[in-house]
Amino acid sequence: TRMVLLGPPGAGKGTQGQMLAERLDIPQIATGDILRKAVAEGSEVGQKAKSYMDAGDLVPDEIMVEIIRERLQAEDAQNGYILDGFPRTVAQAEALDEMLEAINQRLDHVIHIDVENEALVERLSGRLICRDCAASYHVRFNPPSKDKVCDSCGGELFQREDDQEETVRSRLGVFAERTQPLVEYYQQQGIYRKIDGDREPEAVLGEISRIIQAG
Ligand code: AP5
Ligand code: ZN
Repeated sequence: TRMVLLGPPGAGKGTQGQMLAERLDIPQIATGDILRKAVAEGSEVGQKAKSYMDAGDLVPDEIMVEIIRERLQAEDAQNGYILDGFPRTVAQAEALDEMLEAINQRLDHVIHIDVENEALVERLSGRLICRDCAASYHVRFNPPSKDKVCDSCGGELFQREDDQEETVRSRLGVFAERTQPLVEYYQQQGIYRKIDGDREPEAVLGEISRIIQAG
């Protein structure tokens, strides 16, 4: 399965992507995680990306397309993948389609996880992330069993720089303006489905799994 998880910041792309990757045994390719790792390592990409990310703006398309081009060539991506956070602009979607066409492949599903803005602000302002494995928690909705410690790997949990309320609101604006046009783009390809993301994570996962099984 080659699928895209589309949705505003905080919709649960990361949460669902991680569960789906385990269930389907294919990699979750999360561009936000890739960028945060590059920033932490101080690589060239990281240095270029940092100011955009901290401000809640999109990193330029050229940088993102090259990251994905390289990642999709990796051994573990040959039997499918879950794209989480890419594409985010029509230009990125077009570049992805070109890459896939060149090797006679296409996307199977684009699943839009829909959640309204006030719920997103609440989710993101309470979110905690693992420094080591990028697992995501929430102080109220999904608390770790031990304070500030990751249940899966024991890593330290922290709040993301861009999860402050003001930055969250501008990320929501960026989604509406730059990413929302992908709805029409993928509707035209007949692979788009919108689902209600304002439910328990297991319920959302169940619906995504049914869509995949239906083909
Ligand atoms: P990225 O890391 O992709 O951030 P995002 O899209 O803003 O998404 P989030 O990670 O904030 O949310 P999510 O949907 O994964 O939700 P999560 O599962 O964590 O990107 C960060 C930045 O990198 C961008 O701003 C940009 O600068 C740059 N970037 C990345 N990709 C790019 C691209 N392609 N082009 C250009 N720039 C790019 O859940 C959120 C919270 O809610 C958690 O606390 C979770 O526990 C909780 N939660 C999850 N599901 C539920 C549920 N069902 N009910 C209740 N709570 C829930
Ligand atoms: Zn962890």
